[in-house]
Amino acid sequence: MEGVNFSKSLTRIFLATSGLLLVFFLVIHLAGLLLGVIAPITFELYAKALHATSWLVFAEFMLGAITLTHVFLTLTKVIKNSQNGNTSNLVSRRKDSLAVLAARSQPIGGIVLLFFLYIHLGELRFPRPADGSELSTLQLILASSGNLVAYILGSLALFLHLFHGIESSQRSLGFLTPLNSSLIRGLGRALSVIISTGFVLMTILLGRTSVFD
Ligand code: HEM
Repeated sequence: MEGVNFSKSLTRIFLATSGLLLVFFLVIHLAGLLLGVIAPITFELYAKALHATSWLVFAEFMLGAITLTHVFLTLTKVIKNSQNGNTSNLVSRRKDSLAVLAARSQPIGGIVLLFFLYIHLGELRFPRPADGSELSTLQLILASSGNLVAYILGSLALFLHLFHGIESSQRSLGFLTPLNSSLIRGLGRALSVIISTGFVLMTILLGRTSVFD
């Protein structure tokens, strides 16, 4: 029994830590896109310099490994919870309908995000746009209404995923106490709104005719 509890705690700690590392990546990613909106030429120079660094491949590999770890541990948790008939999230937050929706949609939202990533990386990473044409490629992609819808849906799925996930990660890491739980919940939710609204805004602003106009 102790062994089972230990492996459960370890899964929760790795799931929470990998999720928080992905949130950190999203903040950097969003800041990069903001640079593209406010200073397009600097953004292209920065992207070129970044792609020339030797550590980028390693960072990308780590990002891929963290994402796969997060997906694998989520699947393991969902399967174990469904085998045990665990519905604690739904029972404890019955009055907070957005939180219930966010908790319930966690696995399906994760699948929507993975599907979004499949489209997104196929368009912008494999292959990567040539140096100096990062923003024009992005505009070309976002000029298609199908892509625009996919990017906005991806951002909405991200909102629900983070709305539940950030608070849940703090609980898993043992940081939540009766004294700080409202503050941590509020900060986690605010961050989920800022990040997802930021991505929707960047999609709309970068998709406009031409940022060089
Ligand atoms: C919705 C607005 C978004 C826009 C406009 C956008 C734009 C971009 C661009 C231009 C790149 C290419 C960067 C490069 O050349 O290295 C990129 C890469 C990437 N994006 Fe996004 N992105 C968006 C949202 C997201 C979201 C929500 C996620 C995660 C859930 C994400 C994950 C990634 C990843 C993993 C890469 C590859 C990074 C690398 O390996 O270098 N993006 N994105």
